[in-house]
Amino acid sequence: MPMANASSEWSLELLLDSSQLAARIRELGAEISRDYQGRTPHMVGVLKGAWVFMADLVRNLSLEATVDFLGIQSYVTGTSPSGEVKISKDLDVSIAGRDVLLVEDILDTGQTYLYLQGLLSAHQPRSLKLVALLDKTSRRAVPVRADYVGFQIPDVFVVGYGLDYNQQFRRLPEVYFLRQGGSA
Ligand code: IMP
Ligand code: MG
Repeated sequence: MPMANASSEWSLELLLDSSQLAARIRELGAEISRDYQGRTPHMVGVLKGAWVFMADLVRNLSLEATVDFLGIQSYVTGTSPSGEVKISKDLDVSIAGRDVLLVEDILDTGQTYLYLQGLLSAHQPRSLKLVALLDKTSRRAVPVRADYVGFQIPDVFVVGYGLDYNQQFRRLPEVYFLRQGGSA
């Protein structure tokens, strides 16, 4: 899908289509429902990227769950996060004693999760786990891992299904590899 605006041109290459996403999220929902049987996980979505994924994930749970959101801004230079994180929306309810499942769009260098892990652990949840729709393992700069992963993807910049580039492309129902500079 070639796209253009006044200043630059991108091409979007399909990486994960809607049926692949739906099928994998169904599996994740079943797995999480099995693992948290008898408990009520507290799902904390990381805004804004994770909201589309979270909406689909919770609808695939077969147990009761509560939800909250954490707004963060990672400072990004071009397509590379700098590792600095600013909280733009705090949690609404206490996570003390809760089984917290942090819901992320993508685990890249891991710096965001490392930061959030420290922040959330300080509030003494009963447990803290991470579910990430996408995982770029090859990009990891700090030793963190997701407990549940939708898809391992190569070191490419992706958009769609909630993920953005400069706030664009979040609405796309599929995940695309964003190639900058247009066609050669
Ligand atoms: P981290 O490098 O693991 O700290 O990831 C930081 C954040 O950068 C993620 O939560 C995403 O919001 C964003 N990010 C990393 N890789 C991509 C990508 O390929 N597309 C869109 N956003 C990304
Ligand atoms: Mg994010």
